[in-house]
Amino acid sequence: MAYVRPILVIGSLNMDLVARCDHLPRPGQTVFGSDFFTAPGGKGANQAVAAARLGASVTMAGCVGDDQFGRGLLNGLQADGVACETVQQVTRPTGTALITVDDQGANTIVVISGANMACDTALVDRALASLDRPGILLLQHEIPEATNAHAIRAARAAGCFVVLNPAPARAVAPELLPLIDVIAPNETEVAALTGCGDPREAAQRLLARGPRAVLVTLGGDGALYCSRDEVWRCPAVAVQAVDTTAAGDAYIGALAVAQAEERSIPESLGFAAAAAGLAVTRLGAQPSLGTRQEVDEFIALYGALRAVAV
Ligand code: RIB
Repeated sequence: MAYVRPILVIGSLNMDLVARCDHLPRPGQTVFGSDFFTAPGGKGANQAVAAARLGASVTMAGCVGDDQFGRGLLNGLQADGVACETVQQVTRPTGTALITVDDQGANTIVVISGANMACDTALVDRALASLDRPGILLLQHEIPEATNAHAIRAARAAGCFVVLNPAPARAVAPELLPLIDVIAPNETEVAALTGCGDPREAAQRLLARGPRAVLVTLGGDGALYCSRDEVWRCPAVAVQAVDTTAAGDAYIGALAVAQAEERSIPESLGFAAAAAGLAVTRLGAQPSLGTRQEVDEFIALYGALRAVAV
């Protein structure tokens, strides 16, 4: 497969500290967990690994601490073939995420940003300069807002295709939205960005602010993709969820790969749904992300999905 466009991820790297329990504790409640594990995570790094395991040419830019977690994250990315020349070691501790996962695969996540907040505009410039041709830029909301703003402007000026996954939800400056090719919030995030609880209506409101397309991921209900002249709906693969952590990252990483392969939107959404469907059947963030062969086998088992116009 010829990758017409390389993928650059500028974003977070976290070590996930995960506790599994029957049900998520309510405020003030103590519950017993069944087990604990650590796993490489961070929305940025997860999306980079998701795309690399699917065979794309991927560069990661971000920051880790000079500590055991940071070295572990860096080694993991390199083992997955992600180019890490623009992953910088800084004096702050590596980002961590405290995650609880219940019996149904639902989770809560608390992120302690640490080194991720050292990801600055100079690193963005270095990362963009390292691309030998305009690529697909993936951004999330786990690094400083000013860094993301600079990345969006500079990437757009360099001819990159810009995808923003606004997770966790925070406002996006109105002047940046017209520079974004695809903004990809989940149902909660699109509601927070627009104040509208109906995903289709919320997507249309967001689209009216200027991005080329809005992709709303709806968990088990699939995804909705709206551009100025088309609306596509793609179902999710019906699987028993073990852990939904990083399902959105699997989805975005796979979507970027499909776009790098110049596949059509309905096909790209189907491929991303398969990658996310596979990820929810497995524990952990990066451990759950499938290789190309695993996603192809999953598609052979469950059938290929394709979005339909609505
Ligand atoms: O999207 C899942 C990720 O969110 C986790 O890996 C955690 O690190 C947080 O960034």
